[in-house]
Amino acid sequence: MTEGVDLTMTHQVDITKHLQSHRSIRKFKQQPIPADVKEDILSSAQMASTSSHVQAYSIIGVTDQEKKRQIAEWAGQQSYVEQCGHFLVFCADLNRLEHVLSKQGVETDSFNHTEPFLVASVDAALAAQNAAIAAEAHGLGTVYIGGIRNEIQKVSDLLNLPDLVYPVFGMCMGYPDQDPAQKPRLPQEAIYFENEYPTYEHIESHVEEFDNVMKHYYEERTQGKRTDTWSDMMVKTLGEPRRTHMKSFLQSKGFMLK
Ligand SMILES: Cc1cc2nc3c(=O)[nH]c(=O)nc-3n(C[C@H](O)[C@H](O)[C@H](O)COP(=O)(O)O)c2cc1C
Repeated sequence: MTEGVDLTMTHQVDITKHLQSHRSIRKFKQQPIPADVKEDILSSAQMASTSSHVQAYSIIGVTDQEKKRQIAEWAGQQSYVEQCGHFLVFCADLNRLEHVLSKQGVETDSFNHTEPFLVASVDAALAAQNAAIAAEAHGLGTVYIGGIRNEIQKVSDLLNLPDLVYPVFGMCMGYPDQDPAQKPRLPQEAIYFENEYPTYEHIESHVEEFDNVMKHYYEERTQGKRTDTWSDMMVKTLGEPRRTHMKSFLQSKGFMLK
């Protein structure tokens, strides 16, 4: 364990309280984020666990305002991409590793397989979640932006991403200019099982319970205008295939060919 890291009970409670107070922020103050805060967030991202120490991700900080505007538009007019204090794009990155092996005299097609694609995508996500938690610890708000995959080819070109690098998602951060309610989550009985996966009958009633929770949540937040359940939302999100360009884009970048 790193010297000086205090993991006393009080400290643990603080961390779990912090984790459980998360909510995405989509409106930011025009207040710059100090350089040392940005650096601390990146250092936290870097200390996330990484499969076999491969560190198969890169982070692009988009500081160019015109690029932020362009990405906001491509992400489906998500204006907070343009307005946030800092916009990061988390990329799965096997390019650096291919060069490392090549310098060692090893030419291999192993990077084209599905397993390293998964490794790199997971590594990027773990680093991103550490960054989000660190940002929140500094009083910043964050929101992930999967919307950048709407136009993944354009985003990739804009950021000059080489083969074996793809943008998994973006992340806005900045000082919050809103105080939204937290979004409830599924009952724990619907996501945690011991020793084996249960039949859906064991899960169904918990999903129904959650449907009611979310219905009330939206009713309250929209003065009764919105009454959809979580299941309704999932139909909207997953009922039709989305971003069907993903497979061919990823393969064009050398991922998942095998
Ligand atoms: C990978 C990923 C992509 C996301 N993409 C977007 C996005 O493009 N736009 C957005 O407003 N929120 C996005 N979100 C935020 C989710 O909508 C949000 O986390 C979820 O609704 C739960 O709300 P909460 O974060 O406030 O608890 C994304 C979250 C994740 C993890």
